[in-house]
Amino acid sequence: MYAELKRLSERPEVFSVYTAETLWTDPHLAKRMLQTHLSQETALASRPIKAIDQVVDWIDRSFELDGKSVCDLGCGPGLYTNRYAGRGAIVQGLDFSRSSIDYARTHAPSHGGSVTYRVADYLKDPLPEGQDLVTLIYCDLCPLSPNQRQALLAKILRALAPGGRFVFDVFSLEAFERVNEGVSFARNLMNGFWSANDYFAFQHTFRYDQEAVSLDRFTVIEKDRTWDVYNWLQYFSRDEIRRALMQAGFGSIAFTEGFGVDRSDETTFGVIASA
Ligand SMILES: C[S@@+](CC[C@H](N)C(=O)[O-])C[C@H]1O[C@@H](n2cnc3c(N)ncnc32)[C@H](O)[C@@H]1O
Repeated sequence: MYAELKRLSERPEVFSVYTAETLWTDPHLAKRMLQTHLSQETALASRPIKAIDQVVDWIDRSFELDGKSVCDLGCGPGLYTNRYAGRGAIVQGLDFSRSSIDYARTHAPSHGGSVTYRVADYLKDPLPEGQDLVTLIYCDLCPLSPNQRQALLAKILRALAPGGRFVFDVFSLEAFERVNEGVSFARNLMNGFWSANDYFAFQHTFRYDQEAVSLDRFTVIEKDRTWDVYNWLQYFSRDEIRRALMQAGFGSIAFTEGFGVDRSDETTFGVIASA
């Protein structure tokens, strides 16, 4: 047990393991994630509906959604995509969580533009071309390693129509300041979130100060198996995001505080980029 605990408390090399697919697509976790997306009590997977309405208002005011082709990467249960379509956009939503896509499809609006959904991995699968707008909302660039991020940014640039924009948000360095290293251990940690079976789980939080990266590593110990989920997050300055976008070939880059959402807490910022 000592050797195992020692292994668990060791700091993994930054971005050395990628487990996002388990987090979002394991059947039990996908069900719990869908509840988390839809819950108005927690903002862990999606913003509350009031804030989503404000973001969609801001996007509509800024880019005039009516008649535009829009691709939303990591669309989850369609909380933005269905609203874009309701405002007349021709929308494609991509996500690798089948349960989220099923939910999004059954809640598609019957008026306005149109929306089609695809179960796909935006890191591996092709993106639709000729998009007026590509969105990646709720800091989904942050779990990616620098190599994954740069490959995705280049792919998004190729998906844009001439004059098309890429709109996304990221965690700020102010959010990184709030990360504290620590460990928690509990039976059925997070009220059974990690498995339908009885389990014990550790959450180890690590900071990587030089890289401005945090890791929450969850180790789930069930009767018959032990498994880990690695939640990496990269936090950005505006200069760092500008550098990453320029390296991928974007030429025009602007920032927005919070897509028009009322907030007292500055932990994310929005970015609008185009060729
Ligand atoms: C933090 S949630 C945000 C969902 C949605 N944008 C929202 O704000 O309501 C991240 C979403 O991205 C999806 N996702 C993460 N990595 C993905 C990938 N490589 N390909 C497709 N979907 C991915 C997850 O399944 C999840 O639905």
